[in-house]
Amino acid sequence: MRSHYCGELRAALIDRTVTLCGWAHRRRDHGGVIFIDLRDREGLAQVVCDPDRQEAFRVAERVRNEFVLRISGKVRRRPAGTVNAELPTGEVEVLAHEVEILNPSAPPPFQLDEDNLSESVRLENRVLDLRRAPMQRNLRLRHRAAMAVRRFLDEHGFVDIETPVLYKSTPEGAREFLVPSRLHDGHFYALPQSPQLFKQMLMVAGFDRYYQIVKCFRDEDLRADRQPEFTQIDIETSFLSEEDIRGLMESLVRYLFREVIGVELPAPFPVLTYDEAMRDYGTDKPDLRIPLKLAEITDAVKDVEFKVFSAPANEPGGRVCALRVPGGGALTRGELDGYGEYAKTLGAKGLAWIKVNQRAKGAEGLQSPIVKNLHARSLATILERTASEDGDVIFFGAGDAVTVDAYMGALRDKVGHDRDLTEKAWRPLWVVDFPMFEFDPDSRQWKARHHPFTSPKDGHEQYIESAPQKAYAKAYDMVLNGWEIGGGSVRIHRQEIQQTVFRALKMTGAEQRAKFGFLLDALQFGAPPHGGIAFGFDRLVTLMAGAAAIRDVIAFPKTQRGQDLLTGAPTPVTENQLRELHLRLRNPQ
Ligand code: AMO
Ligand code: AMP
Repeated sequence: MRSHYCGELRAALIDRTVTLCGWAHRRRDHGGVIFIDLRDREGLAQVVCDPDRQEAFRVAERVRNEFVLRISGKVRRRPAGTVNAELPTGEVEVLAHEVEILNPSAPPPFQLDEDNLSESVRLENRVLDLRRAPMQRNLRLRHRAAMAVRRFLDEHGFVDIETPVLYKSTPEGAREFLVPSRLHDGHFYALPQSPQLFKQMLMVAGFDRYYQIVKCFRDEDLRADRQPEFTQIDIETSFLSEEDIRGLMESLVRYLFREVIGVELPAPFPVLTYDEAMRDYGTDKPDLRIPLKLAEITDAVKDVEFKVFSAPANEPGGRVCALRVPGGGALTRGELDGYGEYAKTLGAKGLAWIKVNQRAKGAEGLQSPIVKNLHARSLATILERTASEDGDVIFFGAGDAVTVDAYMGALRDKVGHDRDLTEKAWRPLWVVDFPMFEFDPDSRQWKARHHPFTSPKDGHEQYIESAPQKAYAKAYDMVLNGWEIGGGSVRIHRQEIQQTVFRALKMTGAEQRAKFGFLLDALQFGAPPHGGIAFGFDRLVTLMAGAAAIRDVIAFPKTQRGQDLLTGAPTPVTENQLRELHLRLRNPQ
């Protein structure tokens, strides 16, 4: 049907006759001459329909936006002064000899190259939205990324093995999607949150190196970097240490960035422990492009008059920290209050600040409602630890550490972006040595931070039941520019340690058998030491594409409310379908 892609036309083809197929991107009537920008996946070509070619011209008159056309004609150089340097095909145009309408189109609900389209319009008209150049680029980048991942992993001996999508309900972390069984009344499959246990069983089965680019399902609240179904690059290896695994995975990501977007990531990635990350950045996924750090001052304000600081400083689990903003002395009262309001939305009770006007003058040179309640020694420590200079402002967070970390970490990000302190760079890192457990105040129970199959650090087995807060894990996250792009761990490969962890999570022996009997059995038949990681593939592609949200690198994503606006899913189903599944609606429509 065609000889070339529209986007391939170059000066080398001048005087050649070509046949193009594509969509009428735009049609312009220039007093007697009709111009059609013909679009296909490779780009745009300008087609000229001259009234001299009567038949072609007549057809061209009927062409409207998004009509599907087949055009034959001769490539010629554009007249001087009409060359379009911004278009790769901009030196040439096609003089049409034949124009054929392969399919007309209803008028599209929006102009394809319109910028500021609302997301709901885009998602409702996803087919047309996907025709747009940025979406074509994103999805093709995603393809290249997937190919690069497969190439690297194949070269390194990884075997792609598929695992079930109809799985068993094993609630941990997120809520599951359930699928009712027709054949087993009252029984349900669950969609996997990840292939975690299957990949571990594949290690017990001796495959040594597994990977899969795989859909995972989590019924959780959505955000810009989350979808209810998303894709992982899921990886597991046997007989490798934590450092070996991280090294290999770092090479994978470095290869990916080099192959797909020509970026050389720094080597090696810096490594921070979880405790260091929380101390310095208030988050376990710090954006290292922002050159600001939290300064610990809890110990320096234990005996100050200012109760807002001294009270939490003397409480177990309390924290007082400071964030220096270079040049922040220029912030107006209104702007300072604005940051205070922002911190309050994240749980802060207030946001104390000190402006450093003249550091050399001690307390005299500081401007703040709280200075009079802090003694000279504490002020000196604050200035020293924040390394403040004249013209800076210092913000303070005080309270329980979890809350303080949350708002001071977010404040660091916000100030960094607002004040244009963010480096234009790729700043990956590893965060390692996570606590094994976290205390869930709602259920008043310890929960696994990563997942309950994560190995304790050597020597930490003893704390699992007796002092869960002291047990640290061989768990690691890869973080890039403030996004958690992957997480993994060395796994427990000994049955009795796995059972100890289950007991710490208050699972009885019977519950352990019912939920994870298959895993415990597998561990008993010679499970090798193993470990792995899963990368958020959508997130990686979003970052590489420079897109704003992962929805922009997924062909058919869900909205924030879990709906597919294109097909209308989820939808009601017939009573018959429900009956077959042994289900009844409480309030039938
Ligand atoms: P984890 O739960 O950390 O680990 O997930 C791994 C990575 O998947 C990405 N991710 C998501 N991406 C988009 N939408 C979501 N809702 C979403 N949830 C997670 C993140 C995350 O780092 N089985 C373990 C991995 C392992 O231990 O090997 C797991 O699933 O980038
Ligand atoms: P107050 O004595 O309550 O008027 O507070 C004095 C200053 O401390 C104000 O700037 C408050 O915003 C700030 N502040 C109050 N509570 C906290 C807190 N938990 N952490 C940091 N600053 C606070």
